[in-house]
Amino acid sequence: MNNETVSVELGERSYDIVVGENLIQNSGHIIAPLLRQPRVVIISDSNVAPHYNEVLADSLESEGIKHESLVLPAGESTKSFKYFVELVDGILALGIERGTCLVALGGGVIGDLVGYAAASVLRGIDFVQIPTSLLAQVDSSVGGKTGINTVHGKNLVGAFHQPRLVLCDVGVLDTLPERELKAGYAEVVKYGLIGDEQFFNWLEYNGSKVCKGDKVSRQRAVVQSCKAKAKIVSEDEQEAGRRALLNFGHTFGHALEAEAGFSDILLHGEAVSIGMVMALTLSTKLGHCKSNTQDTARNHLRHVGLPVSTADRPAVNWDTEALLNHMAKDKKVTDGMMTFVLARGIGQAFLSRDVEREALIEVLESGGEL
Ligand SMILES: NC(=O)c1ccc[n+]([C@@H]2O[C@H](COP(=O)([O-])OP(=O)(O)OC[C@H]3O[C@@H](n4cnc5c(N)ncnc54)[C@H](O)[C@@H]3O)[C@@H](O)[C@H]2O)c1
Ligand SMILES: [Zn+2]
Repeated sequence: MNNETVSVELGERSYDIVVGENLIQNSGHIIAPLLRQPRVVIISDSNVAPHYNEVLADSLESEGIKHESLVLPAGESTKSFKYFVELVDGILALGIERGTCLVALGGGVIGDLVGYAAASVLRGIDFVQIPTSLLAQVDSSVGGKTGINTVHGKNLVGAFHQPRLVLCDVGVLDTLPERELKAGYAEVVKYGLIGDEQFFNWLEYNGSKVCKGDKVSRQRAVVQSCKAKAKIVSEDEQEAGRRALLNFGHTFGHALEAEAGFSDILLHGEAVSIGMVMALTLSTKLGHCKSNTQDTARNHLRHVGLPVSTADRPAVNWDTEALLNHMAKDKKVTDGMMTFVLARGIGQAFLSRDVEREALIEVLESGGEL
């Protein structure tokens, strides 16, 4: 299978996303021409490093690129001020220069944290993303949003800082736990639902293969997703408009995650899966789309093993009032108004600030069921 390249067009800050197999083994060769000096710092987490650090280091070595490595604990709590300080101090202690490049080798946690460190140290240095989770390959590594969580909420401190390159090696998904893989798959489905009915139809036939490890289908799913995200990011880098479509299912999803205490009960992608069904239920109730749209999306998500209703997570109480409170606190609230991403059908998402509270309450009370 050949590598494929998707470009993110952002003028001087444009960059490529390379998707393929065995990319980590060849990464030194691909990265070398982009470096301002032949020196990188690899930052990874404790789950990913044992699998891929050595292969990456060998590849850099073979190109004569000096490399040092820092390993952080795995998990969302690493995306915090505490580890940000630890990471930045660690990087500075190595005596890096402005031409040194950071390499984020890991899932979205490492990508967001390292990206923010790259935006901050020495007032901004280059970084390369080597995303290792499906979620990071199709979503978080592309588009330049970086940041950390605070006690006031997720992703509240950060910066837009685009990477120089993204390397999506689909082979590394073999070691990703199945539940994480499926959670990432929810974001793949999202691209079909927001703007590409044909892709959604392809996923209906091939989604199980993507989840089960077929490399050709995985590559196709990652390429299509990156193309969709790259297009939206090129049109609206700082989320003044269209980029908000990428939040489809996320206003609901974030509220569900918050109510589950950002715990293992509900992973981000799982919350997005339920959230997308809720968004379609709401769209149906408001008369924007036919009920079979919700049904079609829901069936596919369920078929691959994703939760589609709060009833799929009975361990949480799912109090409607509490969920509404979480939604009101969402970053995307402007002038006290919530923006919702609704749909007119599969692949036809649109933004709306005009949502009746009653309809919203009905959706939350039903857990997403029509
Ligand atoms: N910047 C953005 O635009 C953006 C978009 C979406 C999500 N995010 C952020 O991404 C984060 C979630 O990303 P995630 O789901 O990748 O979480 P993660 O980085 O925590 O990775 C999930 C788990 O899988 C492990 N892992 C990753 N790759 C592996 C591999 N190949 N083999 C074995 N284990 C592996 C990790 O160690 C971790 O335990 C959240 O913090 C979210 O806010 C950012
Ligand atoms: Zn998401």
